[in-house]
Amino acid sequence: MNKNYLIIGNPVEHSLSPKIHNFWFNKNNINATYEKETLSEDKLENLVKRIKEEDISGANITVPFKQKIIPFLDKLSDLAKKTQSVNTLYKKDDLVIGDNTDVYGFSQSILNHNINLKNKDALIIGAGGVVPSVITALEDLSIGKIYIKNRTKEKLLKLKETFINLNSLEWDQETDCNIVINATSLGLKPNDQINLNFDNLKNKIIFYDTIYNPPVTNFLKNAKDKGHVTINGKLMLLLQAQKAFEIWTGINPKIDEKFLNYLND
Ligand code: ATR
Repeated sequence: MNKNYLIIGNPVEHSLSPKIHNFWFNKNNINATYEKETLSEDKLENLVKRIKEEDISGANITVPFKQKIIPFLDKLSDLAKKTQSVNTLYKKDDLVIGDNTDVYGFSQSILNHNINLKNKDALIIGAGGVVPSVITALEDLSIGKIYIKNRTKEKLLKLKETFINLNSLEWDQETDCNIVINATSLGLKPNDQINLNFDNLKNKIIFYDTIYNPPVTNFLKNAKDKGHVTINGKLMLLLQAQKAFEIWTGINPKIDEKFLNYLND
């Protein structure tokens, strides 16, 4: 029987995930399809039911449902529990399980760039949905201190309940660090600018934007112009997809040149 997978979110039209997974299904001779579905919040419970009844083989969850899906699931992986963020659903032993592959996506993207963050310091800008996964990944990479700042306080305070070692900063407070991560949605639009100054930092720092479209946000462009190393969110996207594919099929699909060229077409 053909397997069928979905990415659900709202909005989800621009998602690259169908292109990624369908390429890998094809490449690995797996009879399966992967489609996107725009869902409203009141359909989340039914989505889980559809997986339980095997109408759907599995799903990826994206913004804004990564947390909202949790009450309807039978079980969470340890990472999903810790981050309270689920991006991959699958059925095992009659249970619908929520997993998180964003943590792997972030940490492996750092390792793939041959970056060693052991005992180094990070600054995270933003406190939205992706941040618990970024923090967990940084901890896995044995980061030293994690500084964090957000435009408003509410989400920051909530995060500190789970991640008690976070060092929160005022929005315009500067600090030395080795990597700065933009985890806000600022940068999605062409004129978005993050009104922060990094000119006084002593170290040569890595600028990492969790955004992958556009590939060069103003945050990364400014950093590049000043000679810093820059990384966008594309590799994180591909690696979280790779891990989800492996959960569903047992196959670790290749991220090679042919695949990357196909995505760029
Ligand atoms: P998502 O789940 O997509 O991450 P989110 O939870 O709303 O969405 O988080 C978006 C992040 O971008 C938040 O950290 C948000 O800051 P607030 O908590 O203050 O809203 C940040 N953000 C969005 N627009 C911003 C702006 N114009 N300036 C600074 N930060 C912004």
